[in-house]
Amino acid sequence: MEKDNFKSKLGIVAATAGSAVGLGNLWGFSYKAGTNGGGTFVILYLLAILFIGIPVMLTEFVIGREGRDGPVGSIEKITGSKKSPFVIAGYTGTISTFLILSFYSVIAGWSLHYLATTIVTGFSKFAAADADTAKFFADSATDLPINILFQGIFMALTVAVVMFGIQNGIERVSKIMMPILFVIIILLVMYSLTLSGFSEAVKFLFVPSELPEGKSLFSVAAAALGQAFFSLSLGMGAVITYARAVNDDININTITMQVAVCDTLIALLAGLAIFPIIFSTPGLEPAQSAGLAFIALPVAFGQMPGGYIIGNAFFLLLVIAALTSSISMLENTLTVILEKTKINRKVGTIALGIVTFLFGILSQLGLGFTSKILSFTKGDGFLDQLDKLTMIYLIPVGALILVLLVGYRMKPEVIRKQINNDKIANIFIPYIKYVAPILIGIVMVAGFLGI
Ligand code: TRP
Repeated sequence: MEKDNFKSKLGIVAATAGSAVGLGNLWGFSYKAGTNGGGTFVILYLLAILFIGIPVMLTEFVIGREGRDGPVGSIEKITGSKKSPFVIAGYTGTISTFLILSFYSVIAGWSLHYLATTIVTGFSKFAAADADTAKFFADSATDLPINILFQGIFMALTVAVVMFGIQNGIERVSKIMMPILFVIIILLVMYSLTLSGFSEAVKFLFVPSELPEGKSLFSVAAAALGQAFFSLSLGMGAVITYARAVNDDININTITMQVAVCDTLIALLAGLAIFPIIFSTPGLEPAQSAGLAFIALPVAFGQMPGGYIIGNAFFLLLVIAALTSSISMLENTLTVILEKTKINRKVGTIALGIVTFLFGILSQLGLGFTSKILSFTKGDGFLDQLDKLTMIYLIPVGALILVLLVGYRMKPEVIRKQINNDKIANIFIPYIKYVAPILIGIVMVAGFLGI
């Protein structure tokens, strides 16, 4: 494959943090915190990032930079065999990013649709009753041609970046988008600081809470770990794909820490931006599941002073965050195609973009024409099925295989060379061998059994 490494350390952090920070932080984290009772979920999430997320991310950096190839090629190189069972993780990863992108672009398309509409009309039509807003959302979600159009525009944007490769496409765009994203979210939090509901939101997010009815501590922990994996883009080879383009003189330990901190910070800031708005608006509740961003917040934007600016800034934020994640997903699946065939990058990107778009239409169809949309995280729409398939099965299995690969197949000297820091390597090597697989395994089984 072509050599196309990142130009700067800042570019690596921007691209990898861009991959990590996405709808999962802004939309997923807040509604999962909301439905899992708040503080307890958040604390478990932070523990999951620290004890599982960070070691697994470093694992992927080690694999990608040592293998210097996409997820499949890197694993083949490290095991020295194309038939090694470890190679399965390369393929499950590729399939995961393909499936996730197919429905991610649907949700990103809604965000783009909201933005395009509310820039012109403002949010006043949402201000009235909840029911009307829900109806607007249901109508717009079932307005198939429009939604397919916006999904298509979003996919075209993604293709337009990935086509130009790592240095000229992904790195360049991430370096522009990530600072904008930071500025928008800080402004939103500053606005929320002025609201009466701010202290209630802080309490809701950070004070350990009673578990919601019908949920065990274990199920909340499993949700928190699933969210940590998804949010850091782990278990799918996405980090391997970027790591293959990281020069040898870059310290991957600091990059891992910086990305993890960025991702966590943005999720928490998103919570601090969103929940004060919810608590300050009469009639809105935090436990809203998926409707939080697309139903509850627009109601608030319609009622509050400055709602036009805040609301549009919020949807712009969603679109930017989704784009820097979607380019990483497309690049991941594409890399496996490019390493296995002789297709040229531009043609491959466009073809894969079209196939992903067409497959994504199934998610639109699975949602549309039914009112299930309003509860699709519990319902059985196609989008929901894909979400579960990747979250519960593909991602944890992928992560477990990658951890076992580094723990049991990679020579310790090679790991030490990549980590290039004795203190960290002395902790990392036994940890990845004995502790991480057990932690991942426990949560994986919990997910399978639906505990
Ligand atoms: N981390 C992204 C988010 O929080 C979503 C995501 C999951 C992702 N897996 C990925 C992004 C793989 C890029 C590559 O929204």
